[in-house]
Amino acid sequence: MRIGVLTGGGDCPGLNAVIRAVVRKGVSTYGHEFVGFRDGWRGPLEGLTRPLGIPEVRGILPRGGTILGSSRTNPFKIEGGVERIKANLADHGIDALIAIGGEDTLGVATKLDELGVNVVGVPKTIDNDLGATDYTFGFDTAVNIAMEAIDRLHTTAESHHRTLVVEVMGRHAGWIALHAGLAGGANVILLPERNFDIDQVAAYVEKRFQTQYSPIIVVSEGAMPLEGQMVLQNQEKDAFGHVRLGGIGQWLAGEIEERTGKEARTVVLGHIQRGGTPTAFDRVLATRFGLHAIDAAHDGDFGTMVALRGTDIVRVPLAEATRELKTVPVERYTEAEVFFG
Ligand code: F6P
Repeated sequence: MRIGVLTGGGDCPGLNAVIRAVVRKGVSTYGHEFVGFRDGWRGPLEGLTRPLGIPEVRGILPRGGTILGSSRTNPFKIEGGVERIKANLADHGIDALIAIGGEDTLGVATKLDELGVNVVGVPKTIDNDLGATDYTFGFDTAVNIAMEAIDRLHTTAESHHRTLVVEVMGRHAGWIALHAGLAGGANVILLPERNFDIDQVAAYVEKRFQTQYSPIIVVSEGAMPLEGQMVLQNQEKDAFGHVRLGGIGQWLAGEIEERTGKEARTVVLGHIQRGGTPTAFDRVLATRFGLHAIDAAHDGDFGTMVALRGTDIVRVPLAEATRELKTVPVERYTEAEVFFG
């Protein structure tokens, strides 16, 4: 078989580990050939390829990013996009595609599968918000990066008797904030799943200062205060109506200073959470996803994606990738509240 591989959407530590596992097993166990498509769906759309064999995947396991490049191109939003993809796949003699991506990339894969393209999906996102799988690779790395930042911020916050607000990624789900906040001993954790009361946050900050320690607040980029507590200019919101990266953290620090009379600073971790080498957990999960994805392609089990259920890697219908956004359940948030203030 001749198999195309692509990575789409935001990059994520572990993408290269998937590519390596797919190619290593695909070549050595099954004798398949591979074509790398560049930059997500833009690759098959525009016929952009690169060689992908054992030499190309050597040494990439610990590397962040993706050797194939990525983009958020959606061929269904481009006139004639699907026909161009089908023609390019035929030109390159592609029998099957392995698409590694999040909701958008796998949404395209699902539709292409319905139109007769042979696709196997591999889920990825640092946000860990895909309902079909217990964990996605990249999440553990992002949490560890944020935890390390929080550990460092505790000491500088204490030295200056300041509040430090740490804004982490997560527009729609607060998994990174919850796990990094718990692991880093944050005094308040704010998530997109539940609008927060700024007066309550200020009360937690005051309480923390009374114990002679300085508060650390971890906030997801998509978290919002209660209705009416924040007046926003239009340009401060993104297309989803959420505050732009850097927006909510800055706003919180300003409000806390005003309400407590004590200095506050904001650190926006941003894309640092997606960069660099994956943790051991993410390397292993990504490798196992890759090994099972090439098995599925070899078996001709198209229209499926690999997923983690407990400790097992299973195959589920591709459509499950987009069926349900996995948000933080209220009981997980309540559990964390014991440490607030
Ligand atoms: O979905 C992954 C993610 O990193 C989100 O956490 C974040 O909101 C978004 O991508 C950022 O996207 P971009 O890389 O386009 O700025």
